[in-house]
Amino acid sequence: MIDPSTVEEAISRAKAARSQAELTDLRVKYLGRKGIITGALRRIGTLPPEDRASRGAAANAARAEVEAAIDRAERLLRDRQLSHEAKNAKIDLTAPGAKVEYGHAHPVAALVDELVRVFWQMGYEVAEGPEIETEWYNFDALNIPKDHPARDMQDTFYLEEGNLPRTHTSGVQIRYMEEHQPPVRIIVPGKVFRNEDEDARHGWMFQQIEGLVVDEGVTMADLKGTLEAMMHGVLGAGVETRLRPSYFPYTEPSVEMDARCIICNGIGCSTCSGTGWVEVGGAGMVHPQVLRNVKIDPHKYSGFAFGFGPERIAIIKYGVPDVRGFWRPNLKFLEQF
Ligand code: DAH
Repeated sequence: MIDPSTVEEAISRAKAARSQAELTDLRVKYLGRKGIITGALRRIGTLPPEDRASRGAAANAARAEVEAAIDRAERLLRDRQLSHEAKNAKIDLTAPGAKVEYGHAHPVAALVDELVRVFWQMGYEVAEGPEIETEWYNFDALNIPKDHPARDMQDTFYLEEGNLPRTHTSGVQIRYMEEHQPPVRIIVPGKVFRNEDEDARHGWMFQQIEGLVVDEGVTMADLKGTLEAMMHGVLGAGVETRLRPSYFPYTEPSVEMDARCIICNGIGCSTCSGTGWVEVGGAGMVHPQVLRNVKIDPHKYSGFAFGFGPERIAIIKYGVPDVRGFWRPNLKFLEQF
């Protein structure tokens, strides 16, 4: 049984307390595990059954009252302390504020966004595919059979069960055409992986942006105009580019595009291996066999495809002589952009 005077005493002591420590002591003394009120509550179970309900309710009410009193006292104490501090605080209105550092997009990510915007304006859709790919999508369906020397064009990390981290985004062409009939007009930004030694132009992981257009009457002239629109869109109309004949098993004819090396102004330097040009991507007219692999009739439809390297374009755009800078966690370098 809790004596009403016990409750009154607890409440008046809470009101009189002048520090948090005093209030904590009170809480322990009355409400703690071995506290006066807790003890009384525990003893309810030993009372005759007919008394338990009323005594229990009374003890619970007492506990609630004491608890509320201590809570209230704590709040008052805190308020008083805060207003005391506020009154006595000295504010130097002339002190300079703390500088807020703003982050920004990674330069290569920003360039990929720009590329996507250029194509979005031309009515392209963005498609995506998995970074872990099957040999079928990465190679076979693109007309690169096993044991074909073209497999060596891209050094591949192989995983178990015929899977691999994709070496290019070209496999998404197949994935997309399996699901969609022409007209097809997509770009595919994404990461790719190659078992390659790093140098100024190469890394073992980098970005690609793949493009695919399939429709009736698509020609090489459409491809050339599109690639030029892309380069002008992100590098300005002044950029100097050239197309070279090349070979990819999934295009015929195939080309590669180079941009004038901005690091040496075309004179020849280590970034462009002395050639005055930086290769920025491959492209071509979609090979009829690739269309047949996805059950599109090559007599009715034709298409072009391309795969460009945003890091290579970034070399030209930002005048950075070495792609590795983009992949090191060096804020001094990245903050320049
Ligand atoms: N997949 C090629 C590479 O990674 C680039 C490429 C070339 C993509 C020609 C294409 C293409 O779509 O038509 O080097």
